[in-house]
Amino acid sequence: MSPKKEMKKKFVKVTQTKKAKPVNVAPKKTAAEIDEAKTAKKIAGQLMLVRGMKDVLPPQGDLWLKMLRTAADIATAYDFHYFETPVVEATSLFVRAVGRGTDVVDKEMYTFEDRDGGKICLRPEMTASVARAYIMHGLHTQPQPVKIWNIGPLFRYDRPQAGRYREFHQLDCETIGEASPVVDAELIVVAYNFLRDLGITSTVRVNSLGTPADREQYLVELVGYFRSKRSYLCEDCKKRLLKNPLRILDCKNDSCAGVIAEAPQIVDWLSEPSKTFFMTVLEYLDELEIPYILTPTLVRGLDYYTHTVFEMVEDTEDEKAQSSLLGGGRYDGLIEQLGGQSTPAAGFAVGLERVMAVLERQTKAVTEQPMNPKPEVFFAHLGDQARRRTLKIIEELRRSGLTVRHNLAKASLKAQLELANKYNATHTLILGQKEVQDGTILVRNMESGIQEIVDQKKVRQTLQKIYGI
Ligand code: HAM
Repeated sequence: MSPKKEMKKKFVKVTQTKKAKPVNVAPKKTAAEIDEAKTAKKIAGQLMLVRGMKDVLPPQGDLWLKMLRTAADIATAYDFHYFETPVVEATSLFVRAVGRGTDVVDKEMYTFEDRDGGKICLRPEMTASVARAYIMHGLHTQPQPVKIWNIGPLFRYDRPQAGRYREFHQLDCETIGEASPVVDAELIVVAYNFLRDLGITSTVRVNSLGTPADREQYLVELVGYFRSKRSYLCEDCKKRLLKNPLRILDCKNDSCAGVIAEAPQIVDWLSEPSKTFFMTVLEYLDELEIPYILTPTLVRGLDYYTHTVFEMVEDTEDEKAQSSLLGGGRYDGLIEQLGGQSTPAAGFAVGLERVMAVLERQTKAVTEQPMNPKPEVFFAHLGDQARRRTLKIIEELRRSGLTVRHNLAKASLKAQLELANKYNATHTLILGQKEVQDGTILVRNMESGIQEIVDQKKVRQTLQKIYGI
């Protein structure tokens, strides 16, 4: 007997045996089902999420995807090109690039020994990796600037709290090989418009750290000042005074706030060329009507920055929600410091979990409404033959750029139309037995209930006409 016939025979046998059984009104759980439930509970008891890590499940996953698409759209529109570097890098890369004395290197890196004894780590940020790749692959031989973007996971052993994870994701954009201040302005525009395209209004906080030479004299002044106020500083800042005094400016501790407010400001120590550079960046922002606040205490926590540094915060009354959605700046010395030629560069990175938190709060919709409130087309089928045909038509539509929602598991037309309503579908395509044979399909206007019979070959044109696309 052929396998197909054998399967049919078995199927008939099973249905016949089932028919012979008395109907059970309230289905009781079988012993196997009870066992399965017990096992699931036991496993759930043993499973855990590592501290500081996060799952993204639907419907939040749909919102996450929308954010990724928006990122890809804006990065490519501004002529950035996609890159990938490994998540695992040599620990020494970040020690050299980000700097000893920074929290990222001293406290937060996931560093471990490889099986061959080498020291490797999970990358805590992407800029150092980009600089390494630029040098190793000789990207200075390509037309400059090299404009690249990426989205990927980063790891920092930070104290987890709202908006702060141990694994998080960044949209990273870097422009390497161009010293003009227009690059800094363009990066700010890209970052600002990324948030705006997602419906987030933000304010740019901006500062200049000048060149290392500008900073040398400033640091002498700053350390002198903080030493005179040492007793008012928090314990962390007392340590920073020895290791990385600039970072004291970034301290959020209330006890340090008064001391920081009176501290000398770097802008007063900038050389004339550094001042002009910074003023030019600000003039671009004025021209582009990007709202910014000059923030003399803004240093960002990475040692490689020179000249412009910036971050963006959501425009909200809620001060707790005002953590930086993104951070960036110029890093003209980094590539040379890592062994490459002297190469100007700048970039930024957006914390995607933080943006996601704003989107979730703003749209509230995530758990209450289906995603994509824009007009939708639903595809309903009736009967087995139609179900088989459905996938073919959906694929044809997809190839012509039209995606339709559907649920092939649902057999009843009523249930499918209910689903179409839930998705806010403006039109539903209905394919039944008769339509399969006629080569037609019904196009139902969900608001008026009017149905039109359309040739299956003309579905695409009909939908394009309806949506004006
Ligand atoms: P960053 O300031 O360390 O810069 O991080 C950029 C953004 O990543 C932050 O503004 C924040 O939104 C997000 N972020 C940082 N740490 C966490 C965390 N533990 N949990 C969730 N989100 C976090 C950099 O990483 C630089 N590489 C940016 C850059 C690119 N500069 C020049 N080019």
